[in-house]
Amino acid sequence: MIAVASVVMVGVTKRYRAVVALDDVSPEVASGKFVTVLGSSGWGKSTTLRAVAGLTSIDAGRVLIDGREVTGVPTAKRNIGMVFQNLALFPHMTVDQNVAFGLRMRRLSGSAQRERVGQALAAVRLDNMGRRYPHQLSGDQQRVAIARALVINPTVLLLDEPFAALDRKLRDAIVGDGLGYGTSEHKLCAGWRQLAAGCGCDF
Ligand SMILES: Nc1ncnc2c1ncn2[C@@H]1O[C@H](COP(=O)(O)OP(=O)(O)O)[C@@H](O)[C@H]1O
Ligand SMILES: [Mg+2]
Repeated sequence: MIAVASVVMVGVTKRYRAVVALDDVSPEVASGKFVTVLGSSGWGKSTTLRAVAGLTSIDAGRVLIDGREVTGVPTAKRNIGMVFQNLALFPHMTVDQNVAFGLRMRRLSGSAQRERVGQALAAVRLDNMGRRYPHQLSGDQQRVAIARALVINPTVLLLDEPFAALDRKLRDAIVGDGLGYGTSEHKLCAGWRQLAAGCGCDF
């Protein structure tokens, strides 16, 4: 989770019938920081991110972004960029169209969309791939998902195990240039690198 704005969860509980996925949790991410959530499978990592994004309703508690309560606010109005564990690319859309999706929803002009999509694809080293469909990329789908999340200049960037299939060189390139481009907060990249180096995590 990378936040240009602060993210605060207060006493959040989420149940799926008998399963308590989140039990009164209150994590906080200060503005300009990134936080990695570690936990074994089923611990509630994805649910936490989905609660911040507003993709899952919560049974109790509150979510605040930059001090503003967003509990109950639709995802589209939270300015969140998210990369899903299964990527969730639109298979019937080209790479360009996938990346442009959030810009189209925000009704940017065609020329502005093209410029931003070009920048985002360059940031993840996918220049000239825009006309392909996701299935025509050999293993580069993750990069499209990352570009799609970055292109809207999100206030909060949520990454659900997105770098698992990237080699280290490309990951460094994306973290260094891509996130710098997307968030325009270079300190985030520095922080990311320091943490990655410090804990030896395999992002
Ligand atoms: N849509 C869902 N319906 C029912 N149970 C779910 C659903 N999503 C997650 N869960 C359950 O909630 C718990 C937390 O899941 P999840 O947040 O996906 O964990 P993690 O991402 O840490 O692996 C798990 O027990 C999982 O089975
Ligand atoms: Mg998960």
